[in-house]
Amino acid sequence: MEHIPIARPALGQDEISAVTEVLESGMLASGERVLDFERKFADYCGTTHAVAINNGTAALHAALLAADIGYGDEVLVPAFSFIATASAVSMCGAKPVFVDVDSRTFNILPSQIEERVTPKTKAVIGVHLFGQPFDIEAVQQVCERHSLKLIEDAAQAHGAQYKGQRVGAFGHFGCFSFYATKNMITGEGGMVTTSEKAYNERLRLIINHGQSEKYLHTRIGYNYRMTDIAAAIGVVQLKKLEKFNLRRRKNAEYYDTHISVKGLELPKVADGVHHVYHQYVVRLTDEFPLKRADFIEYLKAKGIGSAIHYPIPIQRQPVYALQNDPDPCPVATALSSSVLSLPVHPLLDSKELAYICDTINKVQ
Ligand SMILES: Cc1ncc(COP(=O)(O)O)c(C=O)c1O
Repeated sequence: MEHIPIARPALGQDEISAVTEVLESGMLASGERVLDFERKFADYCGTTHAVAINNGTAALHAALLAADIGYGDEVLVPAFSFIATASAVSMCGAKPVFVDVDSRTFNILPSQIEERVTPKTKAVIGVHLFGQPFDIEAVQQVCERHSLKLIEDAAQAHGAQYKGQRVGAFGHFGCFSFYATKNMITGEGGMVTTSEKAYNERLRLIINHGQSEKYLHTRIGYNYRMTDIAAAIGVVQLKKLEKFNLRRRKNAEYYDTHISVKGLELPKVADGVHHVYHQYVVRLTDEFPLKRADFIEYLKAKGIGSAIHYPIPIQRQPVYALQNDPDPCPVATALSSSVLSLPVHPLLDSKELAYICDTINKVQ
């Protein structure tokens, strides 16, 4: 069996042709294709607006700035996520305040959000981690009670649904990433969705040097624009997204029904959500016969890639650790030392899936 990587980009001739067309047009920067991608992405998510941007971190940063987050403000974020969920807050001069996560779904705990609200709290970033929507209604209720802005970090959850509605349409902003390993990709890239006209206008200033007319700058902005090259890939990938997600869900279902080994907990899905399995994350308990590092080595020796998402919870990253002692998020810390992601990408074939399950089930 050839090596099975944890992620593999699903790109074909259509993406190559789309990029070639852009190159041949001579219009490489942000143009018609970006606008087309934005319209299609907003339609897909069920929002009024979508603003294309050059990566998911910039998406979070721009959304926070559009929500007027700045010095002295606090933003509640889950401790168990990729660093960008928190660092985007710091990039605004505000303070990320860490909230622990649910040990079953790995997603932000709404009850703890309420406990951490202070007069300085201005917003909550909820992450649809690994492709599973967080408990949106419960978080929305806390936000409404305390007049907080809600930002969905949907970097890992394109097409995921909560009670039948796609994510990105629930918060004041939805932030997506199209990084090369995501459910849909443009290499580097991102999108901010919103249904408020004023936010849409503000976002467009923020991502383009604060420029309201050519060479007229009315606020400090950034160069966060997406290129037409990335947008051309994005339009093709968006058409394929449902098919990709279906494959991911089928792969996950196969694991759910074929992996059976003592001490290995399989992912748990909350009621009312449509999980799109950006990652298939298992958890090793004390009953599992191998230590995590040995399990990774065992899989590697058998040609199976795996990854730890994430080995250090954000509140304990060196850059934030000093502010977080004693540890305010013990569940996130425990998860960091016990989780492992298995390959679940759409290019896995049935032989590879069977081989992975068989290899895992032989652990004793
Ligand atoms: C949860 C989460 N938030 C934000 C980001 C940042 O996206 P990007 O890598 O495109 O900057 C990522 C992607 O890596 C992510 O997984």
